[in-house]
Amino acid sequence: MTDHTTLQADLTARIAAAADLAALEAIRVEALGKTGWISELLKTLGRLTPDERRVEGPKINGLRDAVAAAIADRKAALETAELDSRLAKETVDLSLPPPPERRGRVHPTMQVMDEMIAVFAEMGFALAEGPDIEDDFHNFTALNFPPKHPAREMHDTFWLPEDETGQRKLLRTHTSPVQIRALQQGQNHKLPGWIASSQTPPIRIIVPGRTYRSDSDATHTPMFHQIEGLVIDRNIHMGHLKWTLDTFISRFFETSVVETRFRPHHFPFTEPSAEMDVKCDRSGGDVKIGQGNDWMEIVGCGMVHPNVLTNCGLDPDEWQGFAFGFGVDRLGMLKYGMPDLRDMFAGDVRWLDHFGFSAFQAPNPATGLS
Ligand code: DAH
Repeated sequence: MTDHTTLQADLTARIAAAADLAALEAIRVEALGKTGWISELLKTLGRLTPDERRVEGPKINGLRDAVAAAIADRKAALETAELDSRLAKETVDLSLPPPPERRGRVHPTMQVMDEMIAVFAEMGFALAEGPDIEDDFHNFTALNFPPKHPAREMHDTFWLPEDETGQRKLLRTHTSPVQIRALQQGQNHKLPGWIASSQTPPIRIIVPGRTYRSDSDATHTPMFHQIEGLVIDRNIHMGHLKWTLDTFISRFFETSVVETRFRPHHFPFTEPSAEMDVKCDRSGGDVKIGQGNDWMEIVGCGMVHPNVLTNCGLDPDEWQGFAFGFGVDRLGMLKYGMPDLRDMFAGDVRWLDHFGFSAFQAPNPATGLS
């Protein structure tokens, strides 16, 4: 009869000494496999008398359980050791380039719009909006456009078909109609308002938005973007207008050297009206603000026409103000050197990859806002 104690001691010692999982598995097969030592011992039980079996059975089963438990313990220990050694050996190669990933880009117009809004917001302007589909009154009449003014004609304006009341609405040709909405809202709070915050004078708003004209060449697209500005208060004069625009231009172009000039112009809704030019250098491929001796037109502006104030129920002897209108896309072209305005809205992803901006942008150094 096999000496169980010796066998158990021998197996336990070999199990404890098993260097790896393969060696341990070999011992398991040798002891507990179908024809292993212990399995063979179990088979002998059948040949014993019941009395012998009562004595031998528990011994052999005990031996089997002890060996199985020793194997399980050693297996767990070997697995932990193997994992520890792998963790110690394996390192993540941080220099490995990640697989290419398609990232969305911020459209330059939206980037420029955000930058402009951030600068004006810091100067204390509130944001107002109006509808893209306007009526003749807000887009033209209330803004003092004479009845036969060429801007009302077909070649500029996208007119909509007559509605059931016989009225022809239009796609707004500029953001200036929101001046009217803001001024009227100030006078009558019951008007259905598009204006974000209710505005009574003093008013200080900017109006970013889409505008439309039937026009297409390198510097014009049928849809484009403007930011309108309107300030109404007592004792407002052109000095305020000049300071506001100079400050904006300096912050937007991130330069302290800004030289500007007013050039007389005509807009029906301002008197006097001007275009503001900024001194720049156009000798190279792109335009450099704050250097050189060229002038470039950058914004239309003026003092709000008394008729506009009267049309909105304000007394021009009490209230004055200034207004201005920037072409956002145009400003973006200048700041970021994009040659053709039409590319901005062609929807070419390669163009966007090149000219677009990361959505995770550092704050604007001029304003601290992102
Ligand atoms: N609405 C004008 C345009 O689209 C731009 C403009 C000029 C706006 C002068 C103004 C302004 O508010 O005062 O051409």
